[in-house]
Amino acid sequence: MSAHERLCVALDVETLDEAEALAARLTGEVGYFKVGLELFAAHGPEAVRAIGAHGPVFLDIKLHDIPTQVGRTARRVGALQVGLLTVHASGGSAMVRAAVEGLADGGGTGRVLAVTVLTSMSEQDLADVNAPGAATQVPALARLATAAGAPGLVCAPRDLPLVRDAVGEEAYLVTPGIRPAGSGEDDHARAATPAQAVADGADLLVVGRPITRAADPAAAARALAAELP
Ligand code: C5P
Repeated sequence: MSAHERLCVALDVETLDEAEALAARLTGEVGYFKVGLELFAAHGPEAVRAIGAHGPVFLDIKLHDIPTQVGRTARRVGALQVGLLTVHASGGSAMVRAAVEGLADGGGTGRVLAVTVLTSMSEQDLADVNAPGAATQVPALARLATAAGAPGLVCAPRDLPLVRDAVGEEAYLVTPGIRPAGSGEDDHARAATPAQAVADGADLLVVGRPITRAADPAAAARALAAELP
């Protein structure tokens, strides 16, 4: 896999026009374009089709519902030929399995990625609902999701070694919170450089603002790719 294929750019912008313009400038410079909830809520399948014209789409809509609903939704997403789809591992093994089967039933070759514990859940939040801390839950949910057939997981850079250790070499690990060496962290509690994330076991790096807010997004993507081993 070449370095740029390890990059996914998060198209967290307000309009589909802006997202398409960015995707056009980044065609061939990254492995995936991430379409999130905002763009999907505003433009739905049209956003996936429009962005998909420029490269593989990672649809980050973190499904979490009863297995029937998730399975039926994943089938619709599969028909859109997305490359990656997120679900919450905390929905349980039947839900994760329904997503995997639904995505395949819809056609295409997309893969399900399971999210373990959102990094925005604080240890206090977890304690308030009598839930175990993230260090306990993250590897447990990672194992649950992979046992239910999810080929990949999303986790914070700091959890990469823990998750890799929990699920082994086969799992496809995706991490956000990536910042070029020597830059700021924006709102990430603990960002990682591209080289550090890959050394810790990441297969795909999700990068938003360092690319999307750069004067030359393609040059920013190339610079990040150049930091990879
Ligand atoms: O920070 P950046 O613009 O690179 O964000 C890219 C992606 O990382 C976002 O689309 C979001 O899914 C994720 N993110 C996160 N935690 C944060 C900020 C962003 O997981 N604190």
